[in-house]
Amino acid sequence: MIEKLEQHREDFNARITVVSALRELKQLRTDFLGKKGCVSLMLKEMRSLPAEEKPQAGKHINEFKGSVESLLQAKTLELEEKSGQASVAADGFDTTLPGRGESSGSVHPVTQVMDEIISIFFSLGFSVEEGPEIETDYYNFEALNIPKDHPARDMQDTFYVNEDIVLRTHTSPVQIHVMEKQQPPLRIIAPGRVFRCDSDISHTPMFHQIEGLMVDENVSFGDLKGVMDIFLHEVFGKQTRLRFRPSFFPFTCPSAEVDIECVMCSGKGCRVCSSTGWLEILGCGMVDPAVFKFVDYDSEKWTGFAFGLGIERIAMLKYGINDIRLFFENDLRFLKQF
Ligand code: FA5
Ligand code: MG
Repeated sequence: MIEKLEQHREDFNARITVVSALRELKQLRTDFLGKKGCVSLMLKEMRSLPAEEKPQAGKHINEFKGSVESLLQAKTLELEEKSGQASVAADGFDTTLPGRGESSGSVHPVTQVMDEIISIFFSLGFSVEEGPEIETDYYNFEALNIPKDHPARDMQDTFYVNEDIVLRTHTSPVQIHVMEKQQPPLRIIAPGRVFRCDSDISHTPMFHQIEGLMVDENVSFGDLKGVMDIFLHEVFGKQTRLRFRPSFFPFTCPSAEVDIECVMCSGKGCRVCSSTGWLEILGCGMVDPAVFKFVDYDSEKWTGFAFGLGIERIAMLKYGINDIRLFFENDLRFLKQF
């Protein structure tokens, strides 16, 4: 009996040292500790031993069983650890996995239209200027001939930082900055962000304008109309209908607003154009001599025109977009179309 046990022990030791997978280990367990495994068989055989040999044999068999169990457990842990490490290694360093694709971005439609307008004016001899988005009351209103108590202040819903500082409501203050620094003749445009407490289908609290200013000897309203005509037909195509409508701005005189035929309804009247068939895209006029006074220009010698246009409005008309707020929702499904 003892000899047989030693035989089994040797056999087990030999087999467990070559085991390299959990599957093989399971088989080993079945062979030694299973219902028909060698430990069970020996316990059965023990029954036919003489009574005085039984306790000794039982002790040896149980000892063997215990050692087999603990060796199997140690080996299980060892193999599990190895296979875990292998799978981590595979996850981290599988160079054959295809990478996640990078989708390329595109230029925002407002920026595209802005760039296009800048290049048209560039070809007409205008240079680009910039001004601050946070302005003093003086530049945003006062120097543009809009005194504190003037009703024209109500034309724009202003965000005040404090009594003297505002978020600029238009790009017109850049006119003042430029004229303070430069002497005529000059031809500039000034693109940038402006802010108004305003929100609906054709108004957003932040939007973009491009300001234009030309000052020289003998600049007339005819020059203004000619430049607007060239520019708008360049953007919208030669056949597009425009109209100049008399208007009022404190810093220009005479003043006009330019409307373009609504592209959504071809002038029939719809939600976008408030059933008028037209959409206002810019304000313009001849620079008021009162403004020249603020920057010490001689209004007997110099005359000029100015205009300010809304870039989003132009982008809406150009691309047939019926809600201005879409530009700023950052929905990629919308932006990817441009
Ligand atoms: C002005 O802002 C004047 N500074 C324009 C000007 C410049 C006139 C130089 C004369 C000489 P107005 O408030 O109308 O004018 O705005 C100009 C354009 O900005 C409008 O025609 C419109 O296209 C656009 N706009 C105005 N408010 C909004 C808004 N909340 N959201 C989007 N676009 C707007
Ligand atoms: Mg207006």
